[in-house]
Amino acid sequence: MQLLDVTDLNTSFFIDGKVIHAVDRVSFSVSKGEIFGLVGESGCGKTMTALSVMRLVQPPGRIVKGQVVFEGRDLLRLSDREMEGVRGDRIGMIFQEPMSALNPVFRVGEQVSEAIIIHKKVGKKEAKGATMELLRQVGFEDPEKRYAQYPHQLSGGQRQRILIGIAISCGPSLVIADEPTTALDVATESQIINLLQGLVDNSAMSMIFITHNLNIMRKFGQRIGIMYAGRMLEQSSVDVFFKEPLHPYSKGLLSSIYGLMGNQKRLTAIPGFVPRLAELPRGCTFHPRCPYVMPVCREEEPVMKEIGKGQWVRCWLY
Ligand SMILES: Nc1ncnc2c1ncn2[C@@H]1O[C@H](COP(=O)(O)OP(=O)(O)OP(=O)(O)O)[C@@H](O)[C@H]1O
Ligand SMILES: [Mg+2]
Repeated sequence: MQLLDVTDLNTSFFIDGKVIHAVDRVSFSVSKGEIFGLVGESGCGKTMTALSVMRLVQPPGRIVKGQVVFEGRDLLRLSDREMEGVRGDRIGMIFQEPMSALNPVFRVGEQVSEAIIIHKKVGKKEAKGATMELLRQVGFEDPEKRYAQYPHQLSGGQRQRILIGIAISCGPSLVIADEPTTALDVATESQIINLLQGLVDNSAMSMIFITHNLNIMRKFGQRIGIMYAGRMLEQSSVDVFFKEPLHPYSKGLLSSIYGLMGNQKRLTAIPGFVPRLAELPRGCTFHPRCPYVMPVCREEEPVMKEIGKGQWVRCWLY
């Protein structure tokens, strides 16, 4: 049984009489204890997918259709009050902008405590004890000292640890981490990845890990979904994906990091650019950049097909 089952999710922006399909027929599942990597270039709809699951899409955006079944309930059918109970309690989120997520005028320890007080409905003293424990859990050896510091006194990696602490403070069964390492240097990035991996390993927690960096997923997580222009183009297990990427876009992404296609170390970027969502091409959205384009690709959009067990692709080649 899946922890999260997203089916045919559609989230659009309605601007000046135009509709922009930011999330277009997206489906994926996350099972218990699993890390699901949601990967794609800037603007492809990763954050909007996450915000839709959390029901935090703001106007002029709106969830138009779909199902988000989490722990047996469709979140899109819950009342606002019920949804508040899910947010922060059952699903923790690490937002994309780490600086704006912390309040600069409060000590970081107080901010973690505040989250615990709100969601666990405990007193100040108990919350402070829990905060110390949590700070240790996210890798601080000197929780007393950290508790009293302000966000600007911490490094980027340390601030990210605080945000991870807040996200897991109520023992959620799912954490959504939106590019939690993008602003960090490579060494700090791998420390944060190790921390997240450890947290998932040591609890029954699952995670949606959002990144534009495919490379991170090579050694991290169980399943991966590749997004492009609001759509999911491919999904499979991490192992299978890196051995046998199916979609020409996935192959292009991989070769742009490893030069796989030419069997050389040189960087081969995918020619062309990501289309604007307001001006998507007919047919397959990737066809103008695809080296394997066929006449049908220019006319009709392919549907997601299951090629092997748990290996899905949206491409006319299959
Ligand atoms: N406030 C907004 N108003 C109008 N359109 C928006 C708004 N926010 C997002 N969009 C549209 O939704 C699309 C997806 O945005 P989203 O933030 O999900 O991308 P992303 O994959 O998270 O990108 P990034 O890697 O840059 O964070 C954008 O390309 C844009 O067209
Ligand atoms: Mg984003």
